[in-house]
Amino acid sequence: MRYAFVLMFFASTALAAGETVEITPPTAVSPQDGLAAWSRIYEVTSHPRCANCHVGADNRPMWSGPSYGRTRPHGMNINAGESRIGAEYVPCSTCHALRETGANDAHHMAPQVAMNWQLAPVDAEWFGKSSVEICQQLRDPEHNGGRDHLALARHLDHDLILHWAWAPGGGREPAPYGLQDHVNDVLAWGVAGFPCPDD
Ligand code: HEC
Ligand code: HEC
Repeated sequence: MRYAFVLMFFASTALAAGETVEITPPTAVSPQDGLAAWSRIYEVTSHPRCANCHVGADNRPMWSGPSYGRTRPHGMNINAGESRIGAEYVPCSTCHALRETGANDAHHMAPQVAMNWQLAPVDAEWFGKSSVEICQQLRDPEHNGGRDHLALARHLDHDLILHWAWAPGGGREPAPYGLQDHVNDVLAWGVAGFPCPDD
């Protein structure tokens, strides 16, 4: 089966309106190639553009990566609360406003995308975790939102935050590889049977 989604993405970036991500799983992938795909997936999931939001139960987003200088919790004492959107304190949307056009030219600006900015679920905690830990979490339906590799790939395509992570603006380093490459790797890893480095 072949899926092609046309994206409604309005930022004037490399991921302009009309770009499609193809979800075409390969027919067979060796365990070795599956592991190679996993190691690239780990480079993405552990990258600051992803991990800064994929934090644990302390509900504190992180500021890390070259453009931030040093690793530290989000400034201004931001806490997302159990709601993960800051409902209990200051809502994320106060600064990370919903914006159709992308407005991340200046580094000091809060990143803004055309969907609600919020922390990833605690089940998807990646910040500071090892390759083996993230691997086991991400292949476990109880920790990945009940998704198989096709559903994971579709989720990656539909999520505008992910499109931002590969074109973040403001001098921020984009996540490695590209969205299409990442989707291909997730599909290959799944077809190979979700191998993890310690299996
Ligand atoms: C008072 C304004 C404000 C609020 C409220 C706020 N942020 Fe931010 N956020 C910022 C700014 C400004 C930056 C960028 C700082 C920089 O680049 O130096 C930022 C950056 C981030 C980053 C880093 C993105 C990257 O570059 O990888 C994450 C993650 C983040 N915020 C999550 C949240 C979450 C989740 C909430 C709600 C719980 C939230 N923020 C609430 C102002 C805010
Ligand atoms: C602004 C915060 C934010 C950033 C940055 C972010 N995510 Fe997420 N992520 C979320 C939220 C919120 C969810 C839950 C949404 C859902 O499950 O529908 C999520 C869920 C996921 C899931 C579903 C699997 C699971 O375990 O729940 C995957 C896969 C994922 N993100 C990948 C990524 C990747 C890859 C990057 C970087 C390229 C990234 N995310 C960056 C907020 C973020």
